[in-house]
Formats: sequence, structure tokens, C-alpha cells
Amino acid sequence: MTPELDDYINAHISPEPEELYRIDRLTNLRLVNGRMCSGHIQGRILKMLASMIRPKRALELGTFSGYSALCLAEGMQDGAIIDTIEVDDELEDFIRENLSSSPHGGKVRLHIGDAMTVMDQWGADEFDLVFIDADKRRYVEYFNRVIDLVRPGGYILADNTLWDGHVVETCRHSAQTQGIMDFNDLVANHPRVETAILPLRDGLTILRKIK
Ligand SMILES: C[S@@+](CC[C@H](N)C(=O)[O-])C[C@H]1O[C@@H](n2cnc3c(N)ncnc32)[C@H](O)[C@@H]1O
Repeated sequence: MTPELDDYINAHISPEPEELYRIDRLTNLRLVNGRMCSGHIQGRILKMLASMIRPKRALELGTFSGYSALCLAEGMQDGAIIDTIEVDDELEDFIRENLSSSPHGGKVRLHIGDAMTVMDQWGADEFDLVFIDADKRRYVEYFNRVIDLVRPGGYILADNTLWDGHVVETCRHSAQTQGIMDFNDLVANHPRVETAILPLRDGLTILRKIK
């Protein structure tokens, strides 16, 4: 996507809510990898997908500054809850500040810890929607755990699955690129999911759990 097309899309989609604009700005000012924040274009898609799927329970792996959790929460109905997991405890105060600045923060439950450990508290079919956006090297591991936590008919979204185009390069791949490629290969013909990829931003995979 060229910067011109990004600007055009930004100007022709629903405006970014003020608190999310502020969170994105603070994220880029305060954190080293600010570009990991979903941002306006992907954020409106996440909100739209949550409004379509209407999850009562959602789960996110990889909170970062809380931007995407708040977009998903915005699309969820009153009384719905999104659990979000972040391994970096230094981000906790910033995330909590951001959640409390949003009218949708009350729907978000933050867990600090490694996603694979935190997920041990949940059982089969608990979630209607899961958003995978943590360590790219571990996407296969996340998928293999999450597939049981999502109910049949529920959805799994996975971010960055085109990894800036590196997935089609023929040179030696980084561990992150390899992690994403292994995940893409796994879900392409997996018997328990239907698979689509939105070539949005860095690639957003949408999986529907069949069984
Ligand atoms: C790409 S960022 C998430 C961006 C956020 N979802 C958004 O769209 O605004 C990835 C986050 O996952 C976190 N992370 C990495 N490995 C993790 C793990 N094993 N468990 C939980 N969080 C993890 C990182 O610390 C980082 O904050």
C-alpha cells in the first residue's frame, strides 16, 4: 500500500475515535516499536469484524498499548468481555491508562503474563473470537492451543501474516518470517478451519472454526 492510498483510505472510512487517535499518538511517542499499534485503518476493520461476529467472549494475544483490544471492544455489545494478554509487564500502567481513557475500556480484561500460560485457565469452546497478535515465532503454538478455546462456528484472526511481503522472498528467512510461514502453511488446508487472507496492511488472516 502506498502512503497516498493510505491517506485516501483514512479520508474515506469512519473517523478514528478521539481517544484512539490519542492512544496511537502516545504509543508512537513513548514506545520503541510504535508501528506495532493497529492504527486507524486496521482498527476500523477490527471494530467492523467484531460488530459482524457479535462475540460475547473474545480473546487477544498481544495487547501492546491496548489499541486493538479497544477497537474489538467497541464492536462488541454491552456485557461482552474481551480478555487480552500482554507478556511485557512494563507496559501495564500505560495499557491501564489507555483502557480507562476509553468508553469501551470496561469491556477489556487485561492479563499480564505469557499467553501460553495465561490461557491455561480457560477450557474448550469458551470464546467466540480470538485475535492472535503476539510473538510471530510462536503462531503455530498459539493456533494449536486456541483452536480448542474457540467454539465451532467461532473465528480466529491472525495479524501480520504477510509480514511485509517477506513470506514470498526466496532468501534465508528470519525466525519471525519462518514462524508466520509455518502458520500460513498449517492453516491453508487445516481440517478444522476455513481460511481467508485480507491483504490489509501487513496481512490479516481470518479463520472460521468448522469443528
Ligand atoms: C504486534 S504487538 C500487538 C499490537 C496490538 N495487538 C495492536 O494491534 O495494537 C505484539 C505484542 O505481543 C506481546 N507478546 C509477545 N509475546 C507474547 C507472549 N508470549 N504472550 C503475551 N504477549 C506477548 C509483545 O510484548 C507486544 O506487546
